[in-house]
Amino acid sequence: RTVYINGSFVPEDEAKVSVFDRGFLFADGVYEVTAVLDGRLVDFDSHVDRLNRSLTGLGMTMDLNYAALLDLHRRLVSRNGLREGVVYLQVTRGEADRDFHYPVGVAQTLVMFTQEKHFSTETVKGLSVISVPDLRWQRRDIKTVQLLAASMAKMAAKEAGKDDAWLVEDGHVTEGTSSNAYIVTNDGTIVTRNLSTSILPGTTRAAVLRLATEQQLKIDERPFTLQEAQQAAEAFITSATAFVTPVVEIDGMAVADGRPGQIVGRLREIYIEESR
Ligand code: PDD
Repeated sequence: RTVYINGSFVPEDEAKVSVFDRGFLFADGVYEVTAVLDGRLVDFDSHVDRLNRSLTGLGMTMDLNYAALLDLHRRLVSRNGLREGVVYLQVTRGEADRDFHYPVGVAQTLVMFTQEKHFSTETVKGLSVISVPDLRWQRRDIKTVQLLAASMAKMAAKEAGKDDAWLVEDGHVTEGTSSNAYIVTNDGTIVTRNLSTSILPGTTRAAVLRLATEQQLKIDERPFTLQEAQQAAEAFITSATAFVTPVVEIDGMAVADGRPGQIVGRLREIYIEESR
């Protein structure tokens, strides 16, 4: 693979970041994962908007503008001949002697790589999730690279023989480990947590809620409990890598009849269709 690092496209084993990089020492950086379908970037504008928003949250701004970022993404996709997969982008505050204070006048580190995936053609199997306490910090709206709590939650799910975990705080679901979480009530209303500092504003979330509105589906943006989710008609997650994926079991309890629901199926189809 070719990767991008600080202005150059190089073979992956030639790309090196300093041990003093603040991304490494302090998780002082942010990232984006953009899906690629048929060689095309999905929801790219939303990813750039959120990247800038995350950087602002950490007191940084990007040296590269929208057009430059789009160009880099396209060049990397084309160099790697990527048809389906993701582009990963990470910006850190850069390299500086270890000090908690932000350094001044330091160049940011920007890296990008691609990963091939075959998500759109995979038959969607409903996911079984466990619930775990949300151990993350309180600015989850910033997409930082500090992902240990999410890794721990995914490992707990794996050890329990399940696919993923939903994170719970004060009795309410915040989101999935790397996705936004939704339920569909028995009257067909889509419920997903309202945006705040408690969750990441998903790019897929924005697109799917827009599509749901176009489909005249009812949407209620509010926190929901785990119990509500277990008794819901449908449950699902959204992310750049899962698109729209059904959840069929929560803490060992089947959601409805334990099969992927109709509304989630329809939203997945429309979303993938629109993203091609
Ligand atoms: N994760 N919430 C969290 C905590 C996430 O990490 C993600 C995405 C989302 C969904 O956001 P989007 O729809 O913009 O992908 C919600 C990416 C895919 C990852 O870490 O790999």
